[in-house]
Amino acid sequence: MARFSTRAITASTRSPRVEQVPSSVPIYQSAAFSTRDADELGDVLTGAVPGYAYSRIDNPTTNVLGSAIAELEGAEAGLAFATGMAAIHAAIVSVVRAGQTIVVTSAVYGTTRDLLVRILAGLGVATEFVDPRDLALVDAALARTGSPILYVETVSNPTILVSDLAALARVAHDHGALLLVDNTFASPYACRPIEHGADLVMHSATKYLSGHSDVLAGVVVGSRERMDAIRPILVDVGGTLAPLAAWLVLRGLPTLAIRMERHSETAMELAAWLEGQDGVVRVHYPGLPGDPGHELAARQLDVCGGMLAFELAGGRAAGRAFLDAMQLSERTASLGSVRTIVSHPSSTTHRQLDAAALAAAGIAPGLLRASVGLEDVEDLREDFGIGLAAARKASPA
Ligand SMILES: Cc1ncc(COP(=O)(O)O)c(C=O)c1O
Repeated sequence: MARFSTRAITASTRSPRVEQVPSSVPIYQSAAFSTRDADELGDVLTGAVPGYAYSRIDNPTTNVLGSAIAELEGAEAGLAFATGMAAIHAAIVSVVRAGQTIVVTSAVYGTTRDLLVRILAGLGVATEFVDPRDLALVDAALARTGSPILYVETVSNPTILVSDLAALARVAHDHGALLLVDNTFASPYACRPIEHGADLVMHSATKYLSGHSDVLAGVVVGSRERMDAIRPILVDVGGTLAPLAAWLVLRGLPTLAIRMERHSETAMELAAWLEGQDGVVRVHYPGLPGDPGHELAARQLDVCGGMLAFELAGGRAAGRAFLDAMQLSERTASLGSVRTIVSHPSSTTHRQLDAAALAAAGIAPGLLRASVGLEDVEDLREDFGIGLAAARKASPA
């Protein structure tokens, strides 16, 4: 009989054979998978036969997530990543080469902007930012730069600007560029960019897909051919999603539809209420009839989602006062959770931008961004009312 340590190891690592199908995807919390012989390991590692060898490369639980989002987005294939940023990085790097310039919406998430101007710029990739609403400008930028990518967000962070994906896909494809879309704010329940001509779709699955603010994850979906180009980046850079994290996102997906319906309904009610409040200059929510994205949203979004933004008359001081006074909503930078989250971009996510860059990105100093959660709308109105009262007090007379 083997000795104690050997027995402890073999007894505790013997995987059960399960013939029946479990109701939830098992968490394959294993770094590696052993094979019958050297040939099988070689074949799996080189991709000659399907299978599992090492979880940075492939993990059964993590693979289910990539495929599930691909199915929801109407794409051929998908891969899961450790974070949304790892997914966005892999998608961009799979297309662009040193010496090229890429065309990106000026209304883009702050860290995506940093990735472009801090990391990729250092590797010889330049970025030209354009207003995605001006198709002539986008067309000219693509023609001038010969960019292989047009990069936009379905609904922008933090300005809640809706991009016309079908029109942008046509312009991009006319120039031989691919349309890359960050669909985080919309979620595949509200919009499936591939139906509008997008080539690659990225998500921070940290947000609506998982839905509970308890996991970081990212996903890219697209054609099998494009995903084959992304896979080596995932494997070689190692931005792999851990199986437990993949499971947490999978756990969120069955309720995505009902969560998005409720997020959207409550956001619409709050947006309409905010429009009539003293000290609120403007409300950005595509569900509002007066919003510049309203007509486009009606064509492109099945629901308008839970993200809204509003500008306070009192500028930065009012924004801060609102944030500090809230008693129910969370003061943090994330979004897409069961809890309502309010952030003040000019002092948080976009604080690296100077006044000119903030203005170019459409971010007013008094702009607050709300990720409307699943709480009762009456309680949220009360909380926002407390914020507004504090903002009015803090506003310069
Ligand atoms: C629109 C958008 N894209 C991407 C990301 C990055 O996602 P992660 O934090 O999962 O890397 C975020 C994060 O807030 C986001 O809001």
